[in-house]
Amino acid sequence: MNYQSGRHFLQIPGPTNGPDRVLRAMSKPTIDHRGPEFAGISLEILEGLKRVFQTTGPVVVYPSSGTGAWEAALVNTLSPGDKILMFETGHFATLWYNMAVALGLDVDFVPTNWRHGVKPEIVEEKLSADKDHQIKSVMVVHNETSTGVTSRIPLIREAMDRTRHPALLMVDTISSLASIDYRHEEWGVDVTVGCSQKGLMLPPGLGLNAISQKALNASKSAKLPKSFWDWQAMLNANKVGFFPYTPATNLLYGLREAIRMLEEEGLANVFARHNRHAEATRRAVRAWGLEILCENPQEYSSSLTAVMMPQGFEADALLDTVLDRFDMSLGIGLGKVKGKIFRIGHLGDFNDLMLAGTLAGIEMGLSLAGIPFKKGGIAAALEYLEGAQRPSVG
Ligand SMILES: Cc1ncc(COP(=O)(O)O)c(C=O)c1O
Repeated sequence: MNYQSGRHFLQIPGPTNGPDRVLRAMSKPTIDHRGPEFAGISLEILEGLKRVFQTTGPVVVYPSSGTGAWEAALVNTLSPGDKILMFETGHFATLWYNMAVALGLDVDFVPTNWRHGVKPEIVEEKLSADKDHQIKSVMVVHNETSTGVTSRIPLIREAMDRTRHPALLMVDTISSLASIDYRHEEWGVDVTVGCSQKGLMLPPGLGLNAISQKALNASKSAKLPKSFWDWQAMLNANKVGFFPYTPATNLLYGLREAIRMLEEEGLANVFARHNRHAEATRRAVRAWGLEILCENPQEYSSSLTAVMMPQGFEADALLDTVLDRFDMSLGIGLGKVKGKIFRIGHLGDFNDLMLAGTLAGIEMGLSLAGIPFKKGGIAAALEYLEGAQRPSVG
């Protein structure tokens, strides 16, 4: 590959751009993870994470990718053969389903066309029909990173409440946490799954579970085998700021800094900033004459936008062109939509000019790759950014 000057544009929907403050925080020497300095750091982080998940209950942190945090959610709450309800909203929902099947769970996997989120009315229908409460949990991917569709958790919760069904609600917020408004406690979620490399602006390597009291109670009788993922061992050690095994110390330094940054900006401002960049991006896409994969505007994702390629054109040529010419990585289409879409990540540590650069790279890339489109996407986005107030910081 030719030498590329300047900074790489990492516009995949996670991992995201690592801010300098976080990178610098992680570059400090590793300390004794059984000593008092470490305990102080981890207690600050564990409290801070509660505010990020918007919960007063415990959050556990694993040295793992998001997939590990998925597994932790399942093995701590469920038993072999338990029936659960999942929705095929996209590639990541499918991977979580595959894991549940591999672990011996009996999954009702509701299909979708990958262009909309979980329909609350289907949740209600399925739970109402389950008179003897065989379904132990409802599993939802909040923000489907493969499609740019955000399921509406409060409506799903309300649908569950109407049925008075006791199933747990588990939600994957891997690409929404700290980017899209999410309230673990207020929305009555039992296990929320998160990870480090998206809205939290860290490198990959930390998996997170926020846990409700109901999920903790369920964990007392859950029989799926577990050892590394065992919440109880983690919670016992966490009480005094320690971990049952060697934690990812330097990622935790970064996490402490990331939480401070999010709180300096204010979570509400972080969400407003993501909404604003997502809207500007959609305006660019429409001006290009291209179609957004998400078909319901109420489910548009604020952390990424998935764009459909015109009929007969593959996304790969565009992605290769923008990488080669502009040193920018965009998200590829995954699973069923491979080649048919590309994804623009606009989450994490991001601002107006970074978005303008991203859209400029795409607009030039579309032209260079010979893809039929109309110019003017950047102009439409800039016009919106100029007019739409930046959220006030403070
Ligand atoms: C929504 C969602 N869930 C789960 C995962 C899996 O996380 P990881 O690749 O960190 O294991 C991803 C990864 O991008 C994701 O976007």
